[in-house]
Amino acid sequence: MKSLDSFQMCSLGLYPTPLYKLENISRKYGKDIRIKRDDLCGVALGGNKVRKLEYLLGEAKAQGADVVFTTGGAQSNHAMLTAACAARLGMKCILILKKRGVTDHRGNIVLDEIYGADVRFMDTDSYDDIYSEMRRVGAELEKEGHRCYYIPCGGSNALGALGYARCVREIRDQSEKAPGAIISATGSGGTTAGLLLGTRLFLPETKLFGVSVDTDPFEDIVPALADEAAGLLETSLKDLGYDGLYPDGTSSQFRLFHNWGPGYAIPNAADTPYIHELAREEGILLDPVYTGKAWSGFLQELKKGAFDAYEQIVFVHTGGAAALFAMDLA
Ligand SMILES: Cc1ncc(COP(=O)(O)O)c(C=O)c1O
Repeated sequence: MKSLDSFQMCSLGLYPTPLYKLENISRKYGKDIRIKRDDLCGVALGGNKVRKLEYLLGEAKAQGADVVFTTGGAQSNHAMLTAACAARLGMKCILILKKRGVTDHRGNIVLDEIYGADVRFMDTDSYDDIYSEMRRVGAELEKEGHRCYYIPCGGSNALGALGYARCVREIRDQSEKAPGAIISATGSGGTTAGLLLGTRLFLPETKLFGVSVDTDPFEDIVPALADEAAGLLETSLKDLGYDGLYPDGTSSQFRLFHNWGPGYAIPNAADTPYIHELAREEGILLDPVYTGKAWSGFLQELKKGAFDAYEQIVFVHTGGAAALFAMDLA
């Protein structure tokens, strides 16, 4: 089996990110709840995409690329972090974003500009349209002698997912005792897929939970992507002992909860008290699109008893704070 270290990577974030117990929240909920602060990874306002980009931009550099393309919604955290990391590596970044959601000069769009990205909007709901446009623009640039690298929405392919298997290795190294559960937001699936692979590799007794903030069929997407990422390590989820008993909640290894509320990227009033609570008890910011929905979904399930079996739980904070400057909480 190949190691996570045997790939061309760029060092972009300040790792390991802190992992510690939320004392006030733990007291309030009667549970040992810890937080992995990937929002403090040292690039822009932090976030999960940086771990993926260490692999993706490592490959781009190894291929000699000088132009990086990616996409997302208008307020994409992934697009903004790609712009930040590409700039640092001296690469031109072209963002072809969906003209959906908050498209005016707020939040991540301000940051995209600060990082010098070439931002273009496309009036479409289809990423296929955007990928064709990327290839068209890229082909023109290649004629001029540039070398282009294309990153899918969310950086959620098998290579990017390896970044989150790496995060689990980090959690293991930082923990005296293996946590009973790890939980995080599921938006395009790459983070949860990487965490699933990582738990199989490094914390096989730990159960992984995702909270989906969008309506895609992540019960299928996540294990498939995790298996593809395992393939890059020349193994498979099955060979790593994944029992595959999902999505009815009977798997001992992985379970998804759903908390997209009124829809993807639409703040939900039910999440706001939980966002306020974490800010006021622990000083930590969550966003209304990803981490606020994941954290709120987690605590609502905890109240129903879904985590009774676990002594210690780690919530992976995946960033996203720029959304607080683009939209109001519900
Ligand atoms: C702040 C934040 N958290 C979580 C996620 C979800 O990660 P993934 O797309 O890998 O499922 C995203 C992705 O867009 C994000 O921006």
